[in-house]
Amino acid sequence: MEKPTMKQRLASFGTFLYDSETKQVLGRSGRSWGEIGIFYVIYYACLAAFFAATLAVFNQTLDDDNPKLQGSSSLLKGNPGMGFQPMPDIDTTLIYSTKEGKDEYVKSIEKVLSDYKLANSDGVDCSQVKGIRQDADKPCRMNFTELTAGCNLGNSYGIMEGNPCVLLKLNRIYGWKPEIWTKAEIANEEDIAESIRNQYVEDRIWIDCHGENPADSDNLAKATTTYYPQQGFPLAFYPYTKQKGYMSPLVFVKFSGLAKHLAYMIECKALAKNIAVDRTEKEGSVHFELLID
Ligand SMILES: *[C@@H]1O[C@H](CO)[C@@H](O)[C@H](O)[C@H]1NC(C)=O
Repeated sequence: MEKPTMKQRLASFGTFLYDSETKQVLGRSGRSWGEIGIFYVIYYACLAAFFAATLAVFNQTLDDDNPKLQGSSSLLKGNPGMGFQPMPDIDTTLIYSTKEGKDEYVKSIEKVLSDYKLANSDGVDCSQVKGIRQDADKPCRMNFTELTAGCNLGNSYGIMEGNPCVLLKLNRIYGWKPEIWTKAEIANEEDIAESIRNQYVEDRIWIDCHGENPADSDNLAKATTTYYPQQGFPLAFYPYTKQKGYMSPLVFVKFSGLAKHLAYMIECKALAKNIAVDRTEKEGSVHFELLID
């Protein structure tokens, strides 16, 4: 059989587009096109109606002001996660304090702080408030003067002096209220280290940064750990109930007097009865390594 020429191909395609003998367009008669058109109009109308109906039913179960799943029924199981910066590279938790790494380091902290500065004006001064603020309609404001007293852009967040600052934050959970250990209770908790029991103050979510292994603890004991504005998250920031401009409290931890070229493995834990620390789930604590060049 001979191959059809280009001309023949075009002619047969033309006939397919419109066949003058049978009066068919694209292989279908006008009536057939009409039928198929009506079918699809009805089909899509039904689909759209069904979609709208399910969405409407789902919307009925939602409340504008409160999330549907709260506390232990939510995905987070009511357990706030803790996060830290700088984390210039998401693949590693190593905070490597070098002159070369300075820009990335500063940038990753500045990014968090600039978000805070924008929203912060909606907040009120909570420095005199003790305990949680139930039904507060305005969020607490972060006092940047206090937060950045030892860790700021001026000292490149400690990196140039070899005293790196790490920014800690507890993720917010709607309606979550910290349940604080009393000093007496903590004295009887076997899991809580002696060093924590001695310093612990019960008016906040206590934070403790320590060496992960005995060797790290020994090394870190020779250095100084300072917390800004205070060692812990103030209770006045809780509960979070979608107050306009709400920002979770921040704490800077500054590690001074670290030895050079020695890797420190550090864990920072948040202490409350209802914060379960789960290393694998990265809940309630953070882990990072510090290395000074
Ligand atoms: C922040 O704290 C400092 C020092 O405690 C205080 O002098 C200042 O008034 C506070 N600023 C605001 C905006 O609350």
